[in-house]
Amino acid sequence: MDIWKYYDVTHRKHVVCNPTNEEKLTHLVDLVQLPTTARVVDIACGKGEFLIRLAEAYGMCGVGVDCSSFFIAEAERRLRSRAPQAEITFAQMDGADFKPEKPHSLALASCIGASWIFGGHAQTLDALIGMAEPDGWVIVGEPYWLQEPPDEYLQALGLPRDSIGSHVENVEAGQRRGLDLVHTLVSSKDDWDRYEGLQWYAMADYARTHRDDADLPELFERVTKEKSAYLKWGRDILGWAIYVFRCPSTWNAKVMSRT
Ligand SMILES: C[S@@+](CC[C@H](N)C(=O)[O-])C[C@H]1O[C@@H](n2cnc3c(N)ncnc32)[C@H](O)[C@@H]1O
Repeated sequence: MDIWKYYDVTHRKHVVCNPTNEEKLTHLVDLVQLPTTARVVDIACGKGEFLIRLAEAYGMCGVGVDCSSFFIAEAERRLRSRAPQAEITFAQMDGADFKPEKPHSLALASCIGASWIFGGHAQTLDALIGMAEPDGWVIVGEPYWLQEPPDEYLQALGLPRDSIGSHVENVEAGQRRGLDLVHTLVSSKDDWDRYEGLQWYAMADYARTHRDDADLPELFERVTKEKSAYLKWGRDILGWAIYVFRCPSTWNAKVMSRT
């Protein structure tokens, strides 16, 4: 089965494809206060909701990058119906290949919920710092351990323990790079339940309306495994936050040479 089909089916009921609720997303948009001249990028933009809300609020230029054809098509559809005049484009491509026209030229660079693209949280921060201008925003969404994960849970996730840090480690990774943490949007258990539950609901709905789809057994198997891992462990062990960092007004030579 095409993996992007899996995410398309399980996220059909989501507007925001991560455990942040829409009220927190509205708050994030309010925080960044962009001028109309700003240029921004959202790597792994999903259905484009963050970028479209930024365009509705500030009328700036932006690019959304995602490798799922399903999500890019949905982002374009939403943009046409919500902000057809906006100077926003969506590109179907690997986020790792995105380069702004010039380094340190974007008012905001974000990657919410896909740090594997750059090889982890620290490398994602490095990549976004390389794109962001002085005083610009670097925004990442990242999971964190609420408590030590048992081996069975790591096996279920298919991840090594150190691929995810603690909340404070996620913050410190930014601070070590000269970023100023100005806000966090931390998801509650309620936010997580909604994010996970909507996937089960979407799967059940899809199964009822696509009875002849040959991928149904595989889709069900994966959703069932992920549901069980969430209910057994994830609900108490995994947290999620959006980290809102601001770049300094001038980058020192060390940062410039790293990025
Ligand atoms: C957890 S979702 C988050 C989507 C969006 N940022 C949001 O919060 O609504 C992860 C996203 O990463 C995208 N993705 C995964 N690997 C990618 C890659 N190598 N390059 C670009 N996008 C990727 C997926 O298609 C999906 O839209």
